Amino acid sequence: MKKDIHNREDIIQLVDTFYGMVQENNKIGPIFTEVAKVDWVHHLPKMYDFWESILFGKAIYKGNPMLVHFALNDKTSLQTAEFETWKTIFFNTVDDLFEGSNAELIKQKAQSIADLMHFKINSPPSKIKIV
Ligand code: HEM
Repeated sequence: MKKDIHNREDIIQLVDTFYGMVQENNKIGPIFTEVAKVDWVHHLPKMYDFWESILFGKAIYKGNPMLVHFALNDKTSLQTAEFETWKTIFFNTVDDLFEGSNAELIKQKAQSIADLMHFKINSPPSKIKIV
């Protein structure tokens, strides 16, 4: 039986495995390696903080993921195929390594954030001003 996600060490294992898979993926790998030219030494610890904040309610991640992905979408289109690929890799990584209530929760959170991000990227700026 697999264990659940309990602490930062488990998050580190999840995040490192996930981005290993992402880099090998033909659809979204190049977005990280060629478009954004991600500096992994900085990106990975940021992602440990992000997921620890999301899953364990620790306010250690400081940043604005939506703005980062809006800027990324200006350079390369982030659409259904890219989000579906991201989610599939994330869910498969969680399921390969863990099982339990936190494993289910982190998949739900990832799904909600991914769907919101996808929606916001595709929403034209509002033309109505509510005063
Ligand atoms: C189409 C799917 C996605 C792609 C291709 C993608 C790609 C990227 C890239 C290239 C960066 C690094 C940007 C940079 O350092 O210049 C980044 C940062 C990040 N991504 Fe994504 N991402 C995707 C979906 C998501 C989702 C669904 C989440 C959350 C559930 C997420 C969370 C983050 C966070 C927290 C950062 C760090 C933002 C910061 O600098 O504070 N990403 N992403």
